[in-house]
Amino acid sequence: MGDLRWVLAVDHGTSTTTGAVADVDPDDGWTRVSTVAVDGATELPSVVLSRTDGAVLAGRPALEAAHAEPQAAVLRGRDYLGAATGGRDDALLATWPRPTTAVNVATALIARVLQAEAGRRGSAPSVLALVHPPSWTDPATGRAALTAAGRSALGAVPGAGDAEVALVPAPVAAAVRLGGSGPVVVVDLGGGGTEVALVDRSEGEHGTTAARLRPGTRTVDVGAESLDDALTQLVLDRARPALADRIRFSADPEAHRAWFWLRRGVHDAKPRLGTDGYVDIAVPVLPPENPGPGAVRITHDDLGPLFAPALEQVGAATVDLLGDDRPPLLVRGGIAALPGVRDWLAARTGCALAGVEDPGAGSTTGLVCGAAAWAADRASLGR
Ligand SMILES: Nc1ncnc2c1ncn2[C@@H]1O[C@H](COP(=O)(O)OP(=O)(O)OP(=O)(O)O)[C@@H](O)[C@H]1O
Ligand SMILES: [Mg+2]
Repeated sequence: MGDLRWVLAVDHGTSTTTGAVADVDPDDGWTRVSTVAVDGATELPSVVLSRTDGAVLAGRPALEAAHAEPQAAVLRGRDYLGAATGGRDDALLATWPRPTTAVNVATALIARVLQAEAGRRGSAPSVLALVHPPSWTDPATGRAALTAAGRSALGAVPGAGDAEVALVPAPVAAAVRLGGSGPVVVVDLGGGGTEVALVDRSEGEHGTTAARLRPGTRTVDVGAESLDDALTQLVLDRARPALADRIRFSADPEAHRAWFWLRRGVHDAKPRLGTDGYVDIAVPVLPPENPGPGAVRITHDDLGPLFAPALEQVGAATVDLLGDDRPPLLVRGGIAALPGVRDWLAARTGCALAGVEDPGAGSTTGLVCGAAAWAADRASLGR
């Protein structure tokens, strides 16, 4: 009888949450890794919404409900998890309709991924690996909070009480997915910020890649969410002034909904801005200031002045971290997909790009797949 155990990895990010699973293929005994689909997608928006009837929604359903009730939704909860402890004193991110901390948000999102996979398999994982930013070096904050969220999420799955919660730094997971040996510098252009870290790869005991994070990482305040904020302001600058004023300054629920809808439109349009060079953003209908549908165009040229100084900061921080070394460079994270970002950073730092022949290594789910492989090794799956 083969090894029926399986392990789960979850990357709860500021913008998106992803999951991957590893188990042993009964036919050949090899470890196999695959992404976890929730609501038919491999990426969940990191949104949690509490309904007044007591239900807590996480991921896509929370985002959809948030369009009608943005005040009940918590977004960017991960931004606050780094300072949380998992204890009673953690800051409340929302008080209505129920008190919600960053740990509650993380729990709800991790639990969605866990329940999806455990439900499909009818069993519990032996390891739950949770990805954390490399800058979380203090075990009492961030890491403690994430562990608490993992334990609570496991509590929602029958038979999962014995599962181990294991934490893995994001660049280690990325390096395991990349494979190979020797140093690699990982630049993760995430939703909340950018983290730069050096990882040493070596041949693991079982033919897998082992990776070790070097101390001393760099954090730069450059992320997709603040780019969304800046682009949303740009759209408002080009919209009817009365509409822009109402969305920016009015506290009425309709204006709040319009702001949420507009910002989400900008968020969803970013990939097309990259591929097509321009995108027309629909402006919300909000009578009397804006009685009918309209659109504002933003182009790739608009992105330059907003994003170029930010990218320069990332390049400078990377060079600062590297000193005289020029290891291969893995650029990942959502905005790494914008055209020219990887090549620009390679030129700025003088490092050769890693993972060029294997785009999966830098893809959205590459990191969480690396975390699942890391967890499989930890659990000695198949051995
Ligand atoms: N093709 C694309 N072009 C531009 N932006 C994109 C693309 N794909 C995703 N993004 C943006 O990247 C962001 C998500 O990036 P990512 O998944 O790396 O963040 P995260 O892991 O949630 O955040 P963090 O790691 O900072 O906690 C989203 O804001 C999304 O709009
Ligand atoms: Mg991330």
